[in-house]
Amino acid sequence: MKFGVFLPNGSNGYIPSKGSPVYLPTYAHNKAITLEAERVGLDFVLSMMKFKGFGGETGYWDACLESFTLMAALAADTKRIGLFPSVTLLSAHPPVVARMISTIDDISEGRCGLNIVTGWNKPEYTQMGLWRGDEYYDRRYDYAREYLTILKDLWRTGETSFKGEFFS
Ligand SMILES: Cc1cc2nc3c(=O)[nH]c(=O)nc-3n(C[C@H](O)[C@H](O)[C@H](O)COP(=O)(O)O)c2cc1C
Repeated sequence: MKFGVFLPNGSNGYIPSKGSPVYLPTYAHNKAITLEAERVGLDFVLSMMKFKGFGGETGYWDACLESFTLMAALAADTKRIGLFPSVTLLSAHPPVVARMISTIDDISEGRCGLNIVTGWNKPEYTQMGLWRGDEYYDRRYDYAREYLTILKDLWRTGETSFKGEFFS
């Protein structure tokens, strides 16, 4: 079993409450947590991808460090710990993600993984004009399967001629 830390890369970390300090996410904070995780021997850190917070009095998650660029910086600042950026499939085209992961993998000398989430949050994707309709929600794992096939083709061979229902 592997243990890691879900980094607080969104504002107020994981506490949507006025009862604790309200703070913006910073690289310095996430780096300090990651270095401590590495020091005590944990296996990985993971950051989320978020484009809309909950607002309100605390502005929970209104600010968020971008997941891939955060991990690229951490790759340069660490030596051993695994690094998992998150992609929400509706917000990023697969060849771009394939290349970002390859780049972070090079910077980190093989320590990069990928956390895939399908993009389930309607308000978040509607605000970007990326929500594909409620029927997408039922087919999100079919979409994910095609997306993952393209990623694997590109990582294995550098090319893909995949033709599916969602991608060509
Ligand atoms: C380890 C982990 C990482 C996650 N990262 C994100 C993320 O970066 N962005 C996001 O919107 N949701 C994230 N989620 C939330 C999932 O997308 C959420 O659990 C969702 O309801 C699961 O969707 P599914 O029903 O399509 O599996 C994460 C969940 C887990 C367990």
